[in-house]
Amino acid sequence: MRIVVIGTGNVAFHLIQAFSKSTASIFVHGRNKTALKLLYGEFPSITILSDHDLTPLNADLVIISVKDDVINDVLTQYVYSGASLVVHTSGTQTFTNTAHHSNLGVFYPLQTFSRTSIVQWHNTPLLIDASSENNLQILEKAAGLLHAPYFETNAEQRRYIHLAAVLTSNFANHLLGQAATLLQKHSIDYHILQPLVEATIRKAFTKHPYEVQTGPAIRNDQSTLDKHLALLINEPLLQKIYNNISESIQKTGNLETNL
Ligand SMILES: NC(=O)c1ccc[n+]([C@@H]2O[C@H](COP(=O)([O-])OP(=O)(O)OC[C@H]3O[C@@H](n4cnc5c(N)ncnc54)[C@H](OP(=O)(O)O)[C@@H]3O)[C@@H](O)[C@H]2O)c1
Repeated sequence: MRIVVIGTGNVAFHLIQAFSKSTASIFVHGRNKTALKLLYGEFPSITILSDHDLTPLNADLVIISVKDDVINDVLTQYVYSGASLVVHTSGTQTFTNTAHHSNLGVFYPLQTFSRTSIVQWHNTPLLIDASSENNLQILEKAAGLLHAPYFETNAEQRRYIHLAAVLTSNFANHLLGQAATLLQKHSIDYHILQPLVEATIRKAFTKHPYEVQTGPAIRNDQSTLDKHLALLINEPLLQKIYNNISESIQKTGNLETNL
């Protein structure tokens, strides 16, 4: 399989790393020459491209993995061979310039990527989308090279999955950051929370999360809620978050007690 990766950021790096361990031939292009040089140093089996004309490559798959708001600009900067399937890796974007190239699709890895983290591709759902059975097969083959599970999803489903991912991953991480800062201010190592947080996440995937909700809000323990709000007197934004989430917990209730 001949795969072109456009971009040199977090996702591109991990895709190149994983694909370069497979049987695929990997070609890379990007605007950042320093990043390209570093990638070549790390993965010498890849070919760095210097041209925006990709037609001679006859690639099976071109993966555009750049910042969300420039995906459509970048799409039109290249010339592809007609048979090449061109995809992006975004959970929210859609290709709009279908006149430029018609073989388009999506290859969105539902995972968080940082340069320094290790990606477990076998545990990374790939949300794929393409207009024809043949193109879907190309994406399935690419997912196979990564040993990743894949799921065919349409644009609307991806929008909701992305929203859910923000709520559960980005927001949860932000709350962890807030908790870490609070504890650090009082000279407490936030790792003290780790067993509790890990058990909470594990439990939320064995039963419906509402069924295993605990804490002062679900118990309607107003005196504890008031004490916590008093501790946050100098953190008005966090106080607001605390109030809003407590209200939401009270509104959704506990499925177990509602049964
Ligand atoms: N990071 C994640 O956890 C994650 C997870 C799933 C999907 N995604 C999606 O994957 C895509 C890439 O995300 P990322 O986290 O890898 O981004 P990133 O690390 O910020 O890298 C962005 C890439 O886009 C390039 N770029 C930015 N502006 C450009 C422009 N005007 N023209 C050409 N190239 C440009 C950057 O080049 P320079 O270095 O020159 O700026 C860089 O190569 C996005 O669609 C994102 O939504 C990300």
